[in-house]
Amino acid sequence: MTELRIAHLSDLHVLRDYRGSALEGPPLRQILPPSAFFLAGLRQAVAERPDLIVLTGDLVHEGTEEDYAYLRELVEENAGGIPVLPVLGNHDFKACFYRGYLGQEKSGAYFYKYEQSGVRFLVLDTARERCACGSISDQQLDWLEEELKTPAPGGTILLGHHPLESRQAWFHTDCTERFCRILAESDAFAYLCGHAHYAEVRTVLGLRQVTAESFAFGVETVSPTEVIYTETRGYNTCWVEGRDLVVHPHQAFPFRPEICRFAF
Ligand SMILES: [Fe+2]
Repeated sequence: MTELRIAHLSDLHVLRDYRGSALEGPPLRQILPPSAFFLAGLRQAVAERPDLIVLTGDLVHEGTEEDYAYLRELVEENAGGIPVLPVLGNHDFKACFYRGYLGQEKSGAYFYKYEQSGVRFLVLDTARERCACGSISDQQLDWLEEELKTPAPGGTILLGHHPLESRQAWFHTDCTERFCRILAESDAFAYLCGHAHYAEVRTVLGLRQVTAESFAFGVETVSPTEVIYTETRGYNTCWVEGRDLVVHPHQAFPFRPEICRFAF
């Protein structure tokens, strides 16, 4: 049975300097900057030695290539050599990500494949810059269809920023009939995402859809069109066991929440 432990972190909203950004002043004033919570969460996640770290979008909050270079540095210094898969969100600027994080002169959707322990990860780019809802381009559907023609030994996990379905009216992905058909005929069994700033697990199109909290602020749903922003921050650990996923949500604290340790 495939066993793989994934640290699933999302919506980091990192900036080198939050002054003048939407995250500095009211109503989103932070008790600590999102980057401090992200760093605390990343270190906490790495201390548990996961096999893989995935970052499902809103890596940087509408920043520059220097902000992406800063994020890359944070990740390289703190990820302990564990592989990290970045995903783009609606607050990411694609050209700045390519330049600052990957050192490439490119723009356009960032989608790619990664394999570990027989599990195939297909990373989608559901985001259009500054647009709330997600979509999947025809170019990505062509790629997805081609990739999924051949099953992977441990099955496939999709990664993206927007939930395929969400309680919030403006947080979902527009799923075309073609996308639904491709998934129905595939070995995909899970989809890890963010965007909603709200930890949730639900079944969508036959997949376990796992949404992670954010490191910037939480969002609670009052009704499909009304939400409350909160001080909740966190991430998930997802254990892959065969074609099942065990999900453990963690809260991120601005300090190390460990009281003491026991060894047996
Ligand atoms: Fe976000």
